Amino acid sequence: MSISTPRTRGDAAPAASSTRTFPTDFLWGTATAAYQIEGAAAEGGRGPSIWDTYSRTPGRTLGGDTGDVACDHYHRWSEDVDHLDRLGVGAYRLSISWPRVQPGGRGPLNSDGVAFYRTLLDALRERGIRPFVTLYHWDLPQELEDAGGWANRETALAFEEYARLMATELGDRVEAWTTLNEPWCSAYLGYGSGVHAPGRTEPAAALAAVHHLNLAHGLAARAIRDVVPGAQVSVTLNLHVVRADDPASAADADAVRKIEALANRAFLGPLLDGAYPADLLADTAHVSDWSFVRDGDLELTRQPLDVLGVNYYSTVTVRHFAGDGERAENDGHGASTHSPWIGVTDVEFVQQAGPYTAMGWNIQPAGLTDLLLEVHRTYPGLPLAVTENGAAFDDELVVAGGERRVHDERRVSYLHDHVDAVGAALDAGADVRGYFAWSLMDNFEWGYGYSKRFGILHVDYATGERTWKDSARWYRRLVTTGALPAVTDVEG
Ligand code: FCB
Repeated sequence: MSISTPRTRGDAAPAASSTRTFPTDFLWGTATAAYQIEGAAAEGGRGPSIWDTYSRTPGRTLGGDTGDVACDHYHRWSEDVDHLDRLGVGAYRLSISWPRVQPGGRGPLNSDGVAFYRTLLDALRERGIRPFVTLYHWDLPQELEDAGGWANRETALAFEEYARLMATELGDRVEAWTTLNEPWCSAYLGYGSGVHAPGRTEPAAALAAVHHLNLAHGLAARAIRDVVPGAQVSVTLNLHVVRADDPASAADADAVRKIEALANRAFLGPLLDGAYPADLLADTAHVSDWSFVRDGDLELTRQPLDVLGVNYYSTVTVRHFAGDGERAENDGHGASTHSPWIGVTDVEFVQQAGPYTAMGWNIQPAGLTDLLLEVHRTYPGLPLAVTENGAAFDDELVVAGGERRVHDERRVSYLHDHVDAVGAALDAGADVRGYFAWSLMDNFEWGYGYSKRFGILHVDYATGERTWKDSARWYRRLVTTGALPAVTDVEG
């Protein structure tokens, strides 16, 4: 799969279409993740995760922020379900905190933790909101990391057991299961560049983690269907849209190939084709012999997928790096002296044209159309869903006439243009079934702590108060009509 079509740099022309409509069964939702919103890190029998350890280690997160309190969703979940109901979304993508339900990552379940999710799922279903549940959104129980984490094959086996237990406990309440969220980040940022928990910088371990995550997905998918025949199973990948700096350059084309291998085909290959790409193994042969891939593993990793989740925020542009001067590393994945691009030293990530979000990520809605179409062309017949898309901006809360408002025009435009880009992909034949805005509310943005706000609801971290941003009002109009509203449509 290659997503290297040249594009004009920067934003696409603003979509003028006010007549764009979506299929009536198109699923609209919002997304969150447990560690980013729940808080209550030491309550209800929850065990520690790698993100607790990492965020409490000085210098790891901006300002030393942790998820100890976060949005206090553990206590405010009922209010949050009310907000989802008012938004009118048909689905909500949440994740289960593995250490909340199985504190040591192995062994007995914590009944309080399971009860928390059972109650939440029931409340969602009572409102007609379909729960899309991710089993792993990065919060590995610390005990499993102490035993080697994702570099250790045993973690995949523990994940299988955890998935089986969750399917048994909650299977009747879950609309669709997602095994992993963005295993790219878990492996390469967690074990390669170290900008995510557990913060290791061991290139060979990062590749082992890639495989053990793929294996964990396959084992979990099989276990879920074993317990709940006919269960809907997916995985969510942050596939990279990789552009060549000079589309005419063969060296840049090879740079695209190398980055796509690590970013995309290292997951799509084993999950959908039952093989690792030969060029990936060759490119990384000096780092690892991949002997952690055992006989039979690649049948296990390839399980039928009911839908493939795709997260999209921005694009990257690469070029061949000849070794002169400093290598540009504008890949959007945070600063580290260790590269997440394991084994690749002759590629650089060039600074792209704006506009940018507060993350410094370039805004390019056309990248989402390209991505959906390319995946569709490569895997025809595989239904797709955009499981995350959204933007951080420095929002300002204003109080006027006693009313609290956040006029987040740039987020409204971002969402408008990206939803329009999904519509364009549908028009061109991609089988896209749903779209989930990241995020329902401002939350703990990993290494950036609380400094980056992605929510369509504003969260006052001092009081926990939620305030609807204009983007939430706009999104409600979209999801309740199925027609793309104008960016000015933010009242009501
Ligand atoms: C994705 C993560 C999600 C959130 C967004 C901004 O990579 O899955 O938790 O942090 O980025």
